[in-house]
Amino acid sequence: MILIENIWKQFSGKQVHRGISFDVREKETLVVLGKSGGGKSVLLKMVIGLIKPDAGRILVDGKNVVEMTYPELRALRFKFGFLFQGAALFDSMTVGENIALSLRRHADFAHGEIRDRIDYALHIVGLDNVQHVMPSSLSGGMKKRVGLARSIALTPRYMLYDEPTTGLDVATADGINLLINELRSSLGVTSIVVTHDIHSAFVVGDRFAVLEKGETLMTGTREEIQNSDNEEVRKYINSSISPSESGHA
Ligand SMILES: Nc1ncnc2c1ncn2[C@@H]1O[C@H](COP(=O)(O)OP(=O)(O)OP(=O)(O)O)[C@@H](O)[C@H]1O
Ligand SMILES: [Mg+2]
Repeated sequence: MILIENIWKQFSGKQVHRGISFDVREKETLVVLGKSGGGKSVLLKMVIGLIKPDAGRILVDGKNVVEMTYPELRALRFKFGFLFQGAALFDSMTVGENIALSLRRHADFAHGEIRDRIDYALHIVGLDNVQHVMPSSLSGGMKKRVGLARSIALTPRYMLYDEPTTGLDVATADGINLLINELRSSLGVTSIVVTHDIHSAFVVGDRFAVLEKGETLMTGTREEIQNSDNEEVRKYINSSISPSESGHA
């Protein structure tokens, strides 16, 4: 369970967050919607303590990330997998080595277990037999899936996805959406997804947090958002639907 409570943040005088609050319940996928530059990526980084808010609390399993010491942050990050904008693989290493590297960094797995975890994770993302391939020979969608496999190999309790489908063709994007849902249903992962892709948002999201001008405009299910009395919320969803859905036609 993640609780985001009254988060304020400014960068060199520019106020980005003005009291953001929402919760992410156990084993659900919460989708964060909001305009470009609205502070969504920063919010994800705050959840794992990479950026500190000026005010507010972020509770993960009841502990405030904002006040954690470095060893506590390390322990916290073991529980998380992230898929950041761009897959960020090391081009000089094979796919298998990329995944092994994060396994070695995180825990003291025996050689055999590392191999098993790599096989298992690549299997889940539908990329058996690419262990020995260099990332440069993979497509963008495959790199994203390898990035996802790298997180899956660590069997995270939480996943943070920053624009997981951006820049992918419709079929590849749908594959990623299915994987996000698969991680929730088979592994019971609790997730936050940031996306501009409203089609993807509705496929993966159990609940939604709509951010606007640094505040949480509304939190709720798809139905609640679409039936909101707040015209701004409906406008946001509707205006987001048209360009994205035409892209998916
Ligand atoms: N490390 C940083 N130092 C200074 N300013 C930053 C830093 N990180 C983010 N910002 C600023 O904070 C604001 C919010 O950035 P953020 O990347 O969180 O937006 P976003 O909602 O993820 O946008 P997008 O949808 O385009 O990805 C931007 O104005 C950005 O320039
Ligand atoms: Mg962003």
